[in-house]
Amino acid sequence: MCGIIGYTGNRSALPLLLGGLAALEYRGYDSAGVALQSDQLRIIKRRGRLAELCKALECEENLEAARCGIGHTRWATHGEPADRNAHPHGTERLALVHNGIIENYSEIGDFLKRKGYRFSSETDTEMAALLIDWFYLQSGDPKKAIFAATDMLRGSYALGVVFAAEKERIYAIRRDNPLIVAVTEAASFIASDIPALLAYTKEYYRPDDGILAVLSPGNAVFCRSDGSPVSLSTERVDFDVTAAQKGGWAHFMLKEIHEEPVALGRTVSHYLGVDGLPDFKNPLLDRNFFARFERVQILGCGTAMHAGLIGRHILENLARLPTSVEIASEFRYRDPLLSKKDLVILLSQSGETADTLAALRYAKKEGIYTLAIVNVVGSSVAREADAVLYTPAGPEIAVASTKAYSVQCALLYLLAVYFGLCRGTVTPFLAKELCRSLGKQAPESVRAILAQNDRICHCAARLQSAEHLFYIGRGVDYALCTEGSLKLKEISYIHSEAYAAGELKHGTISLIEKGTPVVAMMTEKKLAEKMISAIREVRARGAFVLLIVSAEIAEQYQIPYDERLLLPPVQEVLAPFPGVVALQLLAYHVAALKGLDVDKPRNLAKSVTVE
Ligand code: F6R
Repeated sequence: MCGIIGYTGNRSALPLLLGGLAALEYRGYDSAGVALQSDQLRIIKRRGRLAELCKALECEENLEAARCGIGHTRWATHGEPADRNAHPHGTERLALVHNGIIENYSEIGDFLKRKGYRFSSETDTEMAALLIDWFYLQSGDPKKAIFAATDMLRGSYALGVVFAAEKERIYAIRRDNPLIVAVTEAASFIASDIPALLAYTKEYYRPDDGILAVLSPGNAVFCRSDGSPVSLSTERVDFDVTAAQKGGWAHFMLKEIHEEPVALGRTVSHYLGVDGLPDFKNPLLDRNFFARFERVQILGCGTAMHAGLIGRHILENLARLPTSVEIASEFRYRDPLLSKKDLVILLSQSGETADTLAALRYAKKEGIYTLAIVNVVGSSVAREADAVLYTPAGPEIAVASTKAYSVQCALLYLLAVYFGLCRGTVTPFLAKELCRSLGKQAPESVRAILAQNDRICHCAARLQSAEHLFYIGRGVDYALCTEGSLKLKEISYIHSEAYAAGELKHGTISLIEKGTPVVAMMTEKKLAEKMISAIREVRARGAFVLLIVSAEIAEQYQIPYDERLLLPPVQEVLAPFPGVVALQLLAYHVAALKGLDVDKPRNLAKSVTVE
């Protein structure tokens, strides 16, 4: 949600800033801008995609000479996407880029008005920029000005600031928003995320909240508000620049869906011990640890929360462990009843989702043990949870999450097996067998469904002109439907609803009329007959049914349909893996056939760092 980049070094800053912004555009793309230390501090910004900014830059002169600058790609919070609301904001003395929300911006606005400031945007960010400017006018000291201003700011932010008087320097500070700093031999960078820096380095610093980073070419120092220096160690990513590139695929989303078999295999082998049983690579997470919990509460947002629904199914079935799943943004506001025997599991691809982070903090404050399942190493959720299990899925760039969901499910599956062992509901023999098939059959079945790409594209063509669509399923298939429906909505802009098939007749079936498309998901044998009744009911009212069914159920039952997609044979408990990939590809093809910008759907951004 908003991407920040900054460069100071011995090369022309502009191409580096634009390269970084291109790599960060998935975080927000309604406007973009740069501030460059050229003959004077110059700010150029435009509404729209990065391409619009590039066009505007073509009309400017003498920008190439600048060796230092900051850039921003925006996801609007305060103020519509417009040139005036794009970042950077500032004065002739400084320019600032911001990711997050300044909650007390109107209070600060009143303060600034009293000091004589006038505003040129509707943004909260401009208030932060002008506040720093005011303190800078008082002290003439950038550090003092930034600390004095951040002392007054409420909300969340990652800020990058350059001052006209300091041609080679960048200042950066954060609170509850991602910000990394990297240093190479002749240059230094700030960025919101690693993909923006991968072309230059794999090593970076991740300053804590409230630590100010002061960058000059080839050097970065960190300090607290009292001036005391902070020494930080670098972190390192284990993937290279190609992992964050499209590499010949039409879209990142398609690439990432095709990476799922490898990501699944990697996740399972990483968390299996030599004995073939789950090993969470943390001595604290042993049998005694898991044996102490009597209930699990899974929290996350969007797709991550949907993975939690699959997790609940497996934890309750395999481990007979009461499990609830809740949307992170609702959890802390309802005063939840928690017990010390609860384990709170936070699911998050980015590890920066503000609502998930807030839910984590709430649980911790209540003294509840928190375990995070996160993809981005060193992210806020990962760092603040009592324990973390990383999903080695590699970077996920498409806004619509795909491979992260599958690997979250795989990890929850391993946790369920382990809980089952601890609780005596799963024997060691069965546990090994389950883990073995998770590592082998799950990736294989995903490969088999990927091989049906053309068939899925054909089904998508039959849905692409729909205005509304229903996904129906029961049990774990209903959980899959929630994710299939979200994927379709977010990238194809077709309204869809996931419905528990048995619940349709309690009202919603009134919406079914001739031609209404219904995707019916069927992988649970014990519910097959119930699902067949639901399919008959919607077809009797004219629905067009796309049946997505496991091969075994299709062989055993006569199921009516208009189009059918057969899921590859796989153990029933693993069916969500090929099942979700079928739904992801279906949504992908609908959006691609409609000619939409699959990787950057309207109104969205990856990594939702505001509440
Ligand atoms: C949908 C999607 C979102 C995210 C949600 C949580 O495709 O990507 O629903 O799943 O914003 O994000 P993370 O997992 O980063 O916490």
